[in-house]
Amino acid sequence: MKRIKIGSLEINSYVYIPPMAGVTDLAFRKMVRMFDKETLIATEMVSSKALMFNPNQSLMKLSPDEHPVGIQLFGHEPEVMAKAAVLAEEQGADFLDINMGCPAPKITKGKDGAALMREPELAVEIIKAVINAVKIPVTVKMRLGWDECQKNSPDLAKRLEDIGVCAFTIHGRTREQGYTGNADWEAISVVKKSTSVPIFGNGDVRTPQDAKKLIEITECDGVAIARATMGSPWLSMQINQFLNTGSFSPEPSLSEKLDIALAHLDELIKIKGEYVGIREGRRHLINYTKGMPNSAQIRAQIGQINTREEAYNLLSRLKEELTNLVKRINLVKNTEMSEFDLISTN
Ligand SMILES: Cc1cc2nc3c(=O)[nH]c(=O)nc-3n(C[C@H](O)[C@H](O)[C@H](O)COP(=O)(O)O)c2cc1C
Repeated sequence: MKRIKIGSLEINSYVYIPPMAGVTDLAFRKMVRMFDKETLIATEMVSSKALMFNPNQSLMKLSPDEHPVGIQLFGHEPEVMAKAAVLAEEQGADFLDINMGCPAPKITKGKDGAALMREPELAVEIIKAVINAVKIPVTVKMRLGWDECQKNSPDLAKRLEDIGVCAFTIHGRTREQGYTGNADWEAISVVKKSTSVPIFGNGDVRTPQDAKKLIEITECDGVAIARATMGSPWLSMQINQFLNTGSFSPEPSLSEKLDIALAHLDELIKIKGEYVGIREGRRHLINYTKGMPNSAQIRAQIGQINTREEAYNLLSRLKEELTNLVKRINLVKNTEMSEFDLISTN
């Protein structure tokens, strides 16, 4: 296993699960850690400004057994970002990630997120202030640039590396593209060539094979995988296995996936209470059941659940339907194949 050095932090993983607002909370990170103790992972983005009013934001709460973990901050005021960085360091974060990639208008209109790519002088000022304020490594997550005419990520990354940024995640799209089209992995390779610190290539990696291809094309040190981990917290483990050995363990059976989905929901309820846990858990249950045979109707009903009991009943019903389906297939095929394995979706 290649060790990646992010300043003073050394990791045994090719994978970074980057921040996803509304997804990479404590419960989600706990599910990832069930499969993979080494993957680099980060919190949802945290507003530096909001931290000035409420320094005890639950978004920054870390668990002692989830390291290596980073906290992502967004904002555009150097002093505020520096103060927020100190608060994040006090929470026990192993690294600080600065958001220079969020394309959402409500973020960029305040010069936050991807808007900082259009303000390189301000970006430098912010990063200097943050680096001076903390001892932990500082990383930056950015896009290729603001739009097609302003793809300045290679120059900006070089400037930020020169003042002490320890690693970058580069999402192969511009702010203008949002999530449309395909991530441009060739363009990520230009950023890799312009810097000497670790780069995590990001965008459209869905499988271990995709991860290998991205690394081959970009020569990046690792991959950052966001959306594909939703409902698949075992994916980073499979990717690390594949990059290390050329093969990877099969994903959990459909039955196991439903158990994992319920465990995730229970974790959310434990942390946030049943009311919030169920509402936030709906999207995760939908993600876990995507692609399962006969699940469309159940998924429509997941949107309506209000209690843990309703969730449990729905998933149990799906489990039973899948079991019956397998039995019918087995009857037809007269095979000895194990329950669920037969229709396991990859
Ligand atoms: C629901 C969602 C929330 C996200 N929130 C953040 C965020 O808080 N900070 C950030 O830097 N990127 C955020 N992203 C962007 C992802 O980290 C990642 O860069 C992007 O999804 C592309 O990677 P992928 O193709 O592997 O999904 C978010 C993406 C999604 C889908």
